[in-house]
Amino acid sequence: MATTIKVNGVNRTVDVDDDTPLLWVLRDVLGMTGTKFGCGMALCGACTVHVDGAAVRSCITPIDSIGMSEITTIEAIAATAAGAKIQKAWLDREVVQCGYCQSGQIMSASALLASNPRPTDSDIDDAMSGNICRCGTYVRIREAIKLAAQSDGQRG
Ligand code: FES
Ligand code: FES
Repeated sequence: MATTIKVNGVNRTVDVDDDTPLLWVLRDVLGMTGTKFGCGMALCGACTVHVDGAAVRSCITPIDSIGMSEITTIEAIAATAAGAKIQKAWLDREVVQCGYCQSGQIMSASALLASNPRPTDSDIDDAMSGNICRCGTYVRIREAIKLAAQSDGQRG
């Protein structure tokens, strides 16, 4: 049935089953392929998006559970203060290897920084532990989050 969701500030009406995962809607219906499919079971974090600012696994989020909450994807994260700082730090620290997990990593890191501008190592571990990187970029990810947190005192 027709459902309207708000993605990156734009209302989008899609005709899908009520229990269709948000990830499928983003990628297959709306053509927004920056958000990745990894496990489909909330185990890897590749599909992470923001729903009202919180990091959410879109692979297990049925479309009818979202209502008109604000969905933000990797395509628009640079428009947020925390997302812009995270993306700059990712480039400065050359975090990315193959890149497949990195949309999800950046979305989780941005949600963390927006809610906690000065995260401790423990905060970072807690926020990022659900995002798996088969290339093992974890050390650079932590460095980049710390760099973003130190940048200019601007709050996320
Ligand atoms: S694809 Fe959603 S957590 Fe792995
Ligand atoms: S950069 Fe390759 S899986 Fe993370």
